[in-house]
Amino acid sequence: MNYQHLNVTPASTAIGAFVNGLDLKDELSREVLTELRQAHAEHGVLFFRDQQLTPEEHVAFAERVGTININRFFTAVDGYPNIAEVRKEPDQSTNIGGGWHTDHSYDQIPALGSMLYALEIPAVGGDTLFASMYAAYDSLSDGMKKMLRGLNAVHSSRHVFGAKSDRPSDLSKRLGNPELATQDAIHPVVIQHPRSGRPALYVNPGFTVSFEGWTAQESAPLLQFLYQHAARPEFTYRFHWQPGSLAFWDNRCTWHNAINDYHGERRLLHRITLDGEALAA
Ligand code: SIN
Repeated sequence: MNYQHLNVTPASTAIGAFVNGLDLKDELSREVLTELRQAHAEHGVLFFRDQQLTPEEHVAFAERVGTININRFFTAVDGYPNIAEVRKEPDQSTNIGGGWHTDHSYDQIPALGSMLYALEIPAVGGDTLFASMYAAYDSLSDGMKKMLRGLNAVHSSRHVFGAKSDRPSDLSKRLGNPELATQDAIHPVVIQHPRSGRPALYVNPGFTVSFEGWTAQESAPLLQFLYQHAARPEFTYRFHWQPGSLAFWDNRCTWHNAINDYHGERRLLHRITLDGEALAA
């Protein structure tokens, strides 16, 4: 797609684009915001470099684009209840968001996406992988597409954020409210993206527990196949953070995976999540 008001450079053939020359502190015109939403739905994740945002400016940018959704499990940044802190200290071994997942698929109305802003990044490492669920779906056989289109999947937060989760204890100060991890959600396995209209595969290793009407055991082989397929390198992009980078991803057509390869160093980012809408096949 050609953009008249934005400078958009694809990051890879399948997923991601850099948006150049935009200061996210600025009031953005209606035309710029419209194209930003289009580019977001088209590329799945937008990257902005060299931003200098205070928490207030981060919130203001998020509110220009959508409505903030407060994640009930992440610890908030001190004084900013609508900003989630994504932190790993030098003496901590577990990171937040390690492993492929789609945020909030356990919600009945999953969040649209998140804006993650980098404050402190290790000298080496701490990249994030993104994968395109448009590409994952498009590259399946017609037979597999047809079967998947007839299925729904069950998603849950219980095993990740709930009281009985096997979460490592060093995450306990960074995540909370296990009593709120009680809700499951059912979504089509292939959704139609609400903005682009494109089909996208909508299951993920983090939160999908089974196909609706199938046992977890019956579901596992097909889910494993889809997970391996969707993580193929040609459907992914590896983003290298710098302080001042902001990544804005779309949960409806992407997965992400924060690589935990920087032990002994601090990594600190601020995440704001935006409300989405009910998903349909
Ligand atoms: C997340 O899953 O929200 C965190 C991603 C990251 O830290 O790169």
